[in-house]
Amino acid sequence: MSEIKKTEDIFLKLISSSKNLEDLESIRIRALGKKGEVSNLMKSIGLMEEKERKIKAPLLNALKDKIIENLEKKKNLINEDILNKRISSEWSDISRPVRPTHKGKIHPISQVTDEIVEIFSDLGFSIAEGPQIESDWYNFDALNIPPEHPARQEFDTFYVKQNNKNGEEPNVLRTHTSPVQIRHMEKTDGVPCRIIVPGKVFRSDYDQTHTPMFNQLEGLAIDKDINMSHLKWTLEEFCRTFFDIEDIVLRFRSSHFPFTEPSAEVDIRCSWEDGLLKLGQGDSWLEILGSGMVHPNVLRSCKVDPKIYQGFAFGMGIDRLAMLKYGIPDLRSFFDSDIRWLDHYGFDPLNKPSIHNGL
Ligand code: PHE
Repeated sequence: MSEIKKTEDIFLKLISSSKNLEDLESIRIRALGKKGEVSNLMKSIGLMEEKERKIKAPLLNALKDKIIENLEKKKNLINEDILNKRISSEWSDISRPVRPTHKGKIHPISQVTDEIVEIFSDLGFSIAEGPQIESDWYNFDALNIPPEHPARQEFDTFYVKQNNKNGEEPNVLRTHTSPVQIRHMEKTDGVPCRIIVPGKVFRSDYDQTHTPMFNQLEGLAIDKDINMSHLKWTLEEFCRTFFDIEDIVLRFRSSHFPFTEPSAEVDIRCSWEDGLLKLGQGDSWLEILGSGMVHPNVLRSCKVDPKIYQGFAFGMGIDRLAMLKYGIPDLRSFFDSDIRWLDHYGFDPLNKPSIHNGL
């Protein structure tokens, strides 16, 4: 057997039995390194007679190429093997539940406000807002509550600034969201309108169902042909969707507000069985809001002609509605900032209320 053939056999065997990249590298050096066996054979070409060179040079070149080719193939096999071992040992189970992380919760008041806004938006109402520090005029006078009116006492108002020397009006923390009715209607394009006004209001009162700050939602619809039946339908439609009870029953109880005439307080039919409140059935009634047809004097305060325009207004306690819907017994807990309470009663931030997924 020729020397070339022998060298080839030796190296091909070595290559095929090598186990790792280090072995392979030492085989490469042994064959093709500066002083490698194949390199030495190649160097000998220069010393050959022309005749011999013509025969051996191509054979030696072929030997070199074959060894390079085999080294390369083996290297790929070993690398593939390494990768396969890694794939089978380094894997993660992506079906395992994620580690618990503390997620913030949406406060029930925010959630319920979003729910209410969602329902009224669907009925064509848009949102209006106003300042929490109001003048006497917006909070009382413009709403047909003159200074000597007894209703001013009923409101337990917080006064934040007394009438000063310059004759400026005293400011109050608004006792209800009704002043936004005025602020909206006095705008040049204020009427006709359908608006709701969610917001904070303030009264000096504190017990299980009263806090000095609470949340109201005002509703106002003004147009040329609005009557009490529109008010009734709107509120029934709202309650049916909000409480998700098909046969909801509302009672419109005659009442008095200076800014509406006629006025009605609205109660919802309910029962208390074993201390558990059920809505839509039973012989108890629970008051949920005040409402009525906007008083002509209120329209006049906004320079709106009551002979052309009329409409309805209502005001509901957002916190009350949240207590009813989610069974929260004490109003004060809403404002305690107790993180354990929020963890229990709060809502998932990704669970956005929408009419289409049942709020
Ligand atoms: N503003 C009234 C209150 O706070 C509620 C109300 C609003 C009543 C609109 C009638 C019409 O008690």
